[in-house]
Amino acid sequence: MGSFDEKYKKIKENRENSADEYGNAESFSRRTERAGGQNIYSSKNKRKKSNALMRRIRHLKRSLTVDFDKPFDFYDQVLIMFVTLTVSCILFGSVFGVAALVHHGKNRSTVVAASESSDESKEDKAHSDDNIKKDKTVSEAENSAQPSDTSEEEESEDEDVSREGNQFFAETKTTVFTDKVYTGDLILVNKDHKCSFDGENVAPIIDSGEIYCALTDNNVSFDKERVVYLNKMLADFVKHYGDTDLMIACGYRSAKTQKKLLDNEIASVGKEKAERWVAPPEYSEHQTGLAFDFNLNNSEGSGGIQYTGEDIYSWLNNNCYKYGFIVRYPAGKEDITGYEQETWHFRYVGEPAAYYIMHKDITLEEFHEEIKKHSIDDPLIIENDYGGKWCVYYKKASKNIRTKLIVPSENAFSVSGDNCGGFIVAVTLSESEYVDDSSYYENDNESDNESDNSTDETTSETYDESETEYTDYTDYTDYTDYTDNNDYTDNDNAYNSYGTESEDNEYSEESEESKSSGGWLSGLLE
Ligand code: DAL
Ligand code: ZN
Repeated sequence: MGSFDEKYKKIKENRENSADEYGNAESFSRRTERAGGQNIYSSKNKRKKSNALMRRIRHLKRSLTVDFDKPFDFYDQVLIMFVTLTVSCILFGSVFGVAALVHHGKNRSTVVAASESSDESKEDKAHSDDNIKKDKTVSEAENSAQPSDTSEEEESEDEDVSREGNQFFAETKTTVFTDKVYTGDLILVNKDHKCSFDGENVAPIIDSGEIYCALTDNNVSFDKERVVYLNKMLADFVKHYGDTDLMIACGYRSAKTQKKLLDNEIASVGKEKAERWVAPPEYSEHQTGLAFDFNLNNSEGSGGIQYTGEDIYSWLNNNCYKYGFIVRYPAGKEDITGYEQETWHFRYVGEPAAYYIMHKDITLEEFHEEIKKHSIDDPLIIENDYGGKWCVYYKKASKNIRTKLIVPSENAFSVSGDNCGGFIVAVTLSESEYVDDSSYYENDNESDNESDNSTDETTSETYDESETEYTDYTDYTDYTDYTDNNDYTDNDNAYNSYGTESEDNEYSEESEESKSSGGWLSGLLE
């Protein structure tokens, strides 16, 4: 017992000390201050603070701990919701982030591959579903990158990209200045589409050094790069038929000369009739330098006889496509071309298009409609029966200064503007065999003989018919003489006077500069 009393006494003393220590800190502090015991105070005070902190932490821990043996109180429920939400957010964010990274990596090449062709594919209904999907991806990517800046959108459309390629040729990329859309062998010039250049690319045919038929005068001019195809056709014609009455009445005509022609024609036959035969200034194919008119020489050598493309001359109308020429205003297509039939008016368009147009019996207008349906992903394959094969496709012009084109890395190719907002690329898959082949002449002779025979077999009745035709024909023979022959000579004088002042000088200056506004862009560009 005694020992218990002692023990109890000790415990009581400890409690009192403890109460003094923790309950009377102020007085203790004053005491120690007076005694100069700063260090003693600090150390004891820190211990006090530390213990208080530990008590708070223990309290907080208790309040943040859910006792699952008891029913959840309000704080328990808030805590559980908070923890659940936080964990969900972290998990969702991680999964979404990883998925986005994988998706981006996987689709980057697809987006890039499609971006170059996105322009035309937006327009091209012939695209496959796959490409449409690609285009959507690109379009979305562009929109999110530059939602309101059109020029930036166009730039991203023209990004340097890679694509899987096509089955016909190994691809590379090039650019063409977008304003070249107004130039090239395939430009459409008609009542709706004017020619945007005048005399920059032409030279007198005699400057080519090769003359295979008569010319109305020495100023008759043609595209100085394409004149080789004209000469080749005429050389083959001469080789086949010898010296004939063939004459080139007119090649390049300036807008000024065209205006004079039309004004004179309107004065002569009235506006409505005149406009069925003569194009308005700036809207004539003759201004391109890629068109010319044949007529036939009279006995005095001054031309003036209508070229109808008959008899031996039918060879020219039937074979011109082999040299890249078409008969531009055929019968039955007046509503499409806007002009009456002109058997004498030829236009250079290049070999593949000429073959296609002449064999399909279509016009240049119809060819343009057709080619717009054919992008690089669905090209038009043109194949002739003498070895030539081409892959031809359309690319809408960019709104940027340059338009990107996919072209072959190894094959020869040509690019032409269409004069209507796009480019036409023709890739040579295989060259035509040499067209001046005796077998063609044999065929031609056969067909010529056939036609000759049929003419021979015809009786005076047929002659009467042709007389009637001739009478009808006289109307526009007069007209034609007026524009292209007799009066053409007058106009040609006018032309000469213009030419002396400007155009002739332009020729000689320009011929040294080798401008190429009217020609194909051939080979590897830039
Ligand atoms: N005779 C054609 C249409 C021209 O004037 O260009
Ligand atoms: Zn003409």
